[in-house]
Amino acid sequence: MKKILVIDDEISIQESFRNILKREYALLFASDGAEGLQRFQEASPDLVLLDLIMPRMDGMTTLKRLREVDATIPIIMLTATQMIKTAVEAMKAGADDYLTKPFDLEELKWVLSKTLSNHDLEKEVQALRTEVSKRYGFENIIGSSQAMQEVFEKVKHVADTKTTVLLLGESGTGKELIAKALHYNSGRRNHPFLAINCAAIPETLLESELFGHERGAFTDAQSRRIGQFEQAHRGTLFLDEVAELSLSCQAKILRVLEERKFMRVGGSEMIEADVRIIAATNKDLEEEIRKGSFREDLYYRINVIPILLQPLRNRREDIPLLIKHFLDKKSHGEPLAPKSITAETMEVLCRYDWPGNVREMENLIEQMATLSSSGLLDLEDIPLTIRRKLHQQPPPNQAILSGKIPLEQAVEQLERQMISEALQQSGHVQTRAAQRLGISRRQLKYKMDALGLSGPKSGLHEDKEASRPPNPR
Ligand SMILES: Nc1ncnc2c1ncn2[C@@H]1O[C@H](COP(=O)(O)OP(=O)(O)OP(=O)(O)O)[C@@H](O)[C@H]1O
Ligand SMILES: [Mg+2]
Repeated sequence: MKKILVIDDEISIQESFRNILKREYALLFASDGAEGLQRFQEASPDLVLLDLIMPRMDGMTTLKRLREVDATIPIIMLTATQMIKTAVEAMKAGADDYLTKPFDLEELKWVLSKTLSNHDLEKEVQALRTEVSKRYGFENIIGSSQAMQEVFEKVKHVADTKTTVLLLGESGTGKELIAKALHYNSGRRNHPFLAINCAAIPETLLESELFGHERGAFTDAQSRRIGQFEQAHRGTLFLDEVAELSLSCQAKILRVLEERKFMRVGGSEMIEADVRIIAATNKDLEEEIRKGSFREDLYYRINVIPILLQPLRNRREDIPLLIKHFLDKKSHGEPLAPKSITAETMEVLCRYDWPGNVREMENLIEQMATLSSSGLLDLEDIPLTIRRKLHQQPPPNQAILSGKIPLEQAVEQLERQMISEALQQSGHVQTRAAQRLGISRRQLKYKMDALGLSGPKSGLHEDKEASRPPNPR
């Protein structure tokens, strides 16, 4: 039952509230402002009914004091009909609504339930916003590679600006995730983030989708429609797969980006919307320009701050961290899901090329963790398709000589593989593994840390002798 605090000096009014409302609400009473404030702090009610005219502290003063204590609690003023003007002033000072005496029973009940449910909705929206913001916080974007550190730097730098950002990278590298991180780490976070998949909207509908249309603008336009640009006012518009836009749509988008104004289809009024633009593509836009399928002027418009997300195979040190992240995420939702992965399995997955990048990995870990019969992901849990693809991957020597894999990365890959095997063959005793590899234990530990093969983040078996290395991020 919701708690309502009635602050009114007239005993008869208190009585009538008691009679009308006691079935639906828990009621508390106070006969003047000072007592009201005290009760408010003791009982933290869900709503306050506040009389304007009272002895000692009057309603306006009480209202201001209450607002100092609590900025959002719904407050409804009670007033005599001839005092409407003061009631309007009270609304300006932060009251949510007012009721005139004598009360209409139905009106009273309706105003109370409407105000309370609005307040509940607001609280819920606020809670959801906080949750969403957290989800797109930097701590949920994984990556310790140089490439990802550069991405973080840029994102932090430009998040809270209105600058247009162009996200580039293969499918599944995290473009949308970064777009959301930019939005939710900016002052725009409490306004909409709208994503438009440019590849999915038919050309004929794009204009009305983006800019909206007036009623009767075309045969099917039975009512006015507000377009995405307008809906995203004060927020962010994410133009995903921007290279897929037809040339004529590109021209239309270019115009809005230049003028920051547009008209609804069939409308005559110029509309201004304060929208931050983020665009993304997995295509090479310069190549598209050469082919004549992307406008050069639009390219310069959106390519203000480019952020490149490297494919996973070019930042392999992120692989173990991401695997651990997705395992954690899975076991967080399902306590029985496996929490760790054997060193051999990790090593194999680190060698894989991940053509579908982080998305492929997220799905694979989900699949492996779901199907695994033990608490530990093992070699047998790797699906056959992946194992086959691993065999088909070009041998490293060839890939290095043809410039596909930088030497440094190939060396790292080999080290990772050898260390995992040595550890496995020596029962995960580091001293013995180091002996096998002809290096000191210190060297081994150093390499394991550097390669993400040890420590709490990697989810590997811990060697009894191993001390915990610092968190890689
Ligand atoms: N660095 C990262 N840390 C954690 N999760 C990530 C990271 N990068 C990507 N992901 C996750 O991988 C999945 C794919 O990412 P996202 O949808 O952002 O890719 P994309 O680049 O937009 O792909 P596409 O071009 O196919 O649309 C998402 O679930 C995302 O949360
Ligand atoms: Mg995407």
